[in-house]
Amino acid sequence: ETTDDGKNADHPGRAEAVARMRAAGVNEPAVRAFVRHHEALVSGATGLVREADVEPASPQVLLDDLPDDPDAGRAALDATAVAVLNGGLGTSMGLSVPKSLLPVHDGLTFLDVTVRQVLALREATGARLPLLLLDSFATRDATLARLAAYPDLAVDGLPLDVLQSREPKLRADDLSPVDHPGDPRLEWCPPGHGDLYPTLAASGVLDALLEQGYRQLFVSNVDNLGAVPDARLAAWFAAEGAGYAAEVCPRTEMDRKGGHLVRRRADGRLLLRDTAQTAEEELVHFTDGDRHPWAHTNNLWLDLIRLRELLERHGGSLPLPLIRNPKTVDPTDPTSTPVVQVESAMGGAVELFDDAVAVGVGRDRFVPVKGTDELLLLRSDAYAVGPGTGYRLVAQADPLPVVTLDRRHYRFVHDLDARFPAGAPSLREAAGLEVEGDWTFGADVVVRGRVRLADEGGARRVPDGTVLEGSSAEGAP
Ligand code: UTP
Repeated sequence: ETTDDGKNADHPGRAEAVARMRAAGVNEPAVRAFVRHHEALVSGATGLVREADVEPASPQVLLDDLPDDPDAGRAALDATAVAVLNGGLGTSMGLSVPKSLLPVHDGLTFLDVTVRQVLALREATGARLPLLLLDSFATRDATLARLAAYPDLAVDGLPLDVLQSREPKLRADDLSPVDHPGDPRLEWCPPGHGDLYPTLAASGVLDALLEQGYRQLFVSNVDNLGAVPDARLAAWFAAEGAGYAAEVCPRTEMDRKGGHLVRRRADGRLLLRDTAQTAEEELVHFTDGDRHPWAHTNNLWLDLIRLRELLERHGGSLPLPLIRNPKTVDPTDPTSTPVVQVESAMGGAVELFDDAVAVGVGRDRFVPVKGTDELLLLRSDAYAVGPGTGYRLVAQADPLPVVTLDRRHYRFVHDLDARFPAGAPSLREAAGLEVEGDWTFGADVVVRGRVRLADEGGARRVPDGTVLEGSSAEGAP
């Protein structure tokens, strides 16, 4: 149902939301972005992208086909700043600490590995490569405390992070800001990583980067340790002259979250479609590897001059597509007040650049950790991460095994830790590990081939030193 313009223009809930944002010190461009989305919501917008309106999109360029010119690569990297999205808490894995502080390999956290990758690349190439985290009010303090261990990280007087804005959760019934006196912190939510753009502009960091001679920005998710700033891609992007490039990669079985690029039939433009922009009944297309075989990695390349122009044209923020995220005010309590969170995705900016390009990369550049299955794999010897490889993830198995853990017993990180007290089993020689039921693993367990543990009704234990031998990858049913 659509509200008439008059009502929409002075919606009392919106005025209250804006007042709360200003009182909390949120920058004006972010307030404007919120207002735009609130107006759309009041007019009945859902933000859904319908399958009938789009066509699958394939990358125009493949990383494998790009020339490898080390000098051009070094020069391009020296003009590249690295931004890492670190505003999320990994709520889908039950975390209430920044996901980036989770140990992932040999006691190193996502954040440690990310920092060491950048430091190693600086050393190898001589590039300045500033690292800039996008933090939220929920992640900043703990993150900066951890970064104190890396005193040489800051360069060119640039800050180590920028703080993204926040916005009120809206009551689903009347779109006014929700009250939750029991825990007022729950009245707020992060606006999604699309907030990177107004935050870069309003913090002055965008201007500072340009002043220091940086021309491009490489951005990725903190939980994707495959997203190392790549010299070949940096050189290609600099030479291409495009304003925006998104890395896409072949979709696999384990990709359950995350979006893909599509082309709008009406005008041929590239759009990003995320799960939250897909109607329930169309989610089948969303995960259809035949129709949409390329996953959006959220590894992006942006031309900083073009970005600044675009931001200036739109009053300091970007008109990103609306993502309407229905939740409850207390996400852990399904009976609490239903709310709508207004979000936007950084990759939604693809539709704002006439010359946006999709570049096809390998799976090595997309190693998302959205669930404990992926976390267990990353923690295992199926990957090597260390100083010898510049802290890049090196897969020790090809193909990597598919891990599927019983959602009832392994959904959250604390469940996983309790059931693998000695760490991950060896998965280097595994083709697959499927665990049903409640199994606790002893130390030095080795998985070979395709192994499935069945639900035996109660808690069971895999003793120390067990070799679980399954069928071979080829012969598996
Ligand atoms: P996701 O929403 O995929 O991250 O965002 P997540 O942390 O895995 O999600 P949940 O909490 O389990 O649902 C991708 C990246 O964007 C960051 C996250 O930290 C993650 O690195 N992000 C997300 C922000 O920086 N700000 C936001 O408002 C949202």
